[in-house]
Amino acid sequence: MRWLAALALAVAVWGEPGSRACAPCHREIFEAQRRSGMARSSGRVGDGFEKFDAALFRGPGARYRVAPSYEVDYGKGTFRMEYFVGSGAVGRSYAGFVDGFLFQSPASYFSSRGAWGLSPGYGTKPFVDVARPVESACLQCHASGARVVAATQNAYADPPFVEGGVSCERCHGAGEAHVARTGPIVNPAKLPAARRDSVCLQCHLTGAARVARAGRGPETFRAGDLLSDHLLVFVGGRGGERAATDHAEQLARSRCAQASGEKMWCGTCHDAHAGTTRQAACLDCHQPHANGGSDCAGCHMPKGRSREGEHVVYTDHTIARRPGTAAALKELRPFAGMAPTEREWALAEPAKRVAVLEKLAAGPAADAAVLVQLAQLYDGRGKGGTLYERVLGLQPDHATAMANLGIYRMQEGRGREALALWAKAFAKNPGMLAVGLNLAMGQMQAGDKLGAAATLRRVLRFHPDSAQARDLFAKLL
Ligand code: HEC
Ligand code: HEC
Ligand code: HEC
Ligand code: HEC
Ligand code: HEC
Ligand code: HEC
Ligand code: HEC
Repeated sequence: MRWLAALALAVAVWGEPGSRACAPCHREIFEAQRRSGMARSSGRVGDGFEKFDAALFRGPGARYRVAPSYEVDYGKGTFRMEYFVGSGAVGRSYAGFVDGFLFQSPASYFSSRGAWGLSPGYGTKPFVDVARPVESACLQCHASGARVVAATQNAYADPPFVEGGVSCERCHGAGEAHVARTGPIVNPAKLPAARRDSVCLQCHLTGAARVARAGRGPETFRAGDLLSDHLLVFVGGRGGERAATDHAEQLARSRCAQASGEKMWCGTCHDAHAGTTRQAACLDCHQPHANGGSDCAGCHMPKGRSREGEHVVYTDHTIARRPGTAAALKELRPFAGMAPTEREWALAEPAKRVAVLEKLAAGPAADAAVLVQLAQLYDGRGKGGTLYERVLGLQPDHATAMANLGIYRMQEGRGREALALWAKAFAKNPGMLAVGLNLAMGQMQAGDKLGAAATLRRVLRFHPDSAQARDLFAKLL
């Protein structure tokens, strides 16, 4: 048998009072903010935003039809969309619960065409995919107070967030004391530059790699903190590809930002509440020039053509003399001012830094992220087993460690232990196809036909179009 390896996952929790508590005293800001794209960046479906005239489309392996009830019919089954992600300036993606686990919808809405279509990135697999987990990072940026169940990949309370969209407290920190008029509240504009910028960068800086500090991550960040105390972001690399992946990365590469230092930030041009842009901001620092005109951004920050991918920078933020000429950043490097330790470097480019991972793993402070990363590098050589054991010593519910240690146990002839590990991992992460299939194959090997049938039924509940699961089922009969 060929056992299937699983990839690493992350977990997060967050929760604070809510924007409505601010309304009585800050009515104008409250009203402006709630109309912004950020405030409307997620919520329950049914706000009347979508049209359903163009609701038929083709994708790999199926024809899809989206009904006004938000049910996606793909012939072999249906997917019920319950929450949207994205205000719809460009488009919307959707999520729905299956048995308490939240998955992404294969159908998305594209505003400019007023039409439904295959979700970005879904054209790559030859089958209908309704089991892509909504990982907490997604709701961390698009909602406030993601309510993910600990030690699972994508089990959430319903609703899956405390507040849809970006709430006041994402940029102002916990507001309880201020609401009770017993304490201060963060005003980003009054913070030192790096902390001020961190407020926006928590969501507007994806880079090429995001590496959490040990025991931390985007979910532990609060306005007022330095983002790099929680999370390191690396940019560039990827074979020298030109694309800077987000607004913050592009802005940091602009002459304007580099030459004006700390003075320039997102708030120089954007009203963070309304999400609007102050076109005259250029004139804070520049004079109009001959052959120019008042639409400075029109020439120096041109707009890209397509907005259909979910995370593209539409307006060029490199603010170049001649746009489109920025040089490629060939080497991976930390985003401006961020200071990774050798641990974060090693996690950002593990294949290049195996020796560092080995050193860290041998030390007393080795954490689960380091051990899992090294174990995965060792898997090809069959040496990762003891590392996964150590991970489970630190985090008994670590799904990847359970899934992959199971493979070693199976190969060592310790089938019963393997099945126990897979059963536990699969119970909490039914979206992990590899684990479900391994468990079913293991049960078949052990002669447990009933168990295998139950596992495969569950696999097919989450992966109704899995050919492997269907083949195994056929072998059982
Ligand atoms: C009971 C009325 C009241 C409520 C509720 C309230 N505020 Fe305020 N807020 C004020 C007053 C008054 C000021 C100006 C004086 C001060 O700074 O305390 C203020 C100031 C602020 C400032 C500027 C602080 C600075 O140092 O520049 C921010 C930011 C702010 N509030 C955010 C919020 C947020 C976010 C909420 C909801 C979580 C909220 N407020 C709820 C009354 C309120
Ligand atoms: C909690 C995450 C988060 C934080 C913090 C955040 N943003 Fe955003 N921002 C988003 C998301 C998500 C969108 C896309 C909204 C959509 O259309 O669905 C967005 C969109 C925007 C837009 C486009 C207009 C709009 O409202 O949709 C601007 C401008 C913007 N952000 C500026 C800022 C600035 C400036 C800051 C810092 C002061 C900031 N953002 C902080 C998540 C965040
Ligand atoms: C690191 C923060 C971050 C993460 C993680 C993230 N997004 Fe976004 N997303 C943004 C920001 C910021 C924007 C708006 C600007 C842009 O396109 O970069 C955006 C834009 C979008 C849009 C277009 C919104 C519109 O106004 O039309 C959709 C749809 C979307 N994201 C869906 C998702 C989904 C689904 C996930 C998770 C599977 C996800 N995003 C993960 C930050 C994030
Ligand atoms: C995307 C980030 C973001 C969100 C969300 C946000 N703010 Fe702000 N807020 C800022 C920034 C940045 C400033 C500083 C603006 C400046 O002075 O340039 C600010 C300033 C303020 C101030 C003091 C200055 C003023 O303009 O009066 C108050 C009060 C305030 N915000 C209240 C709120 C309330 C209430 C909400 C929710 C309804 C909210 N903010 C949501 C980023 C945000
Ligand atoms: C906070 C001040 C500030 C703001 C606001 C600002 N810039 Fe700049 N910009 C600068 C500085 C400083 C330079 C560097 C000047 C130099 O090198 O002599 C620069 C350089 C430039 C350059 C030359 C870039 C190159 O490739 O050499 C262009 C073009 C430019 N700015 C356009 C704009 C436009 C358009 C806006 C508004 C969208 C804008 N700037 C807003 C400060 C600013
Ligand atoms: C020099 C001015 C300037 C600065 C600084 C600036 N932006 Fe923008 N931004 C613009 C302009 C101009 C647009 C286009 C607005 C429009 O079309 O209405 C824009 C659009 C956006 C959008 C909407 C999506 C898109 O690509 O059109 C987002 C999101 C955004 N900016 C985020 C940011 C963030 C985050 C920062 C800080 C890292 C930032 N911007 C700094 C000028 C600026
Ligand atoms: C019609 C298109 C267009 C408009 C509109 C425009 N520019 Fe330019 N700008 C250019 C071109 C082209 C160059 C480069 C000239 C060169 O490379 O010799 C340039 C160069 C610049 C430079 C760097 C050269 C220098 O003068 O030092 C700055 C700064 C700049 N523009 C700022 C602005 C500002 C601010 C505005 C709005 C008030 C603006 N531009 C409007 C086309 C435009």
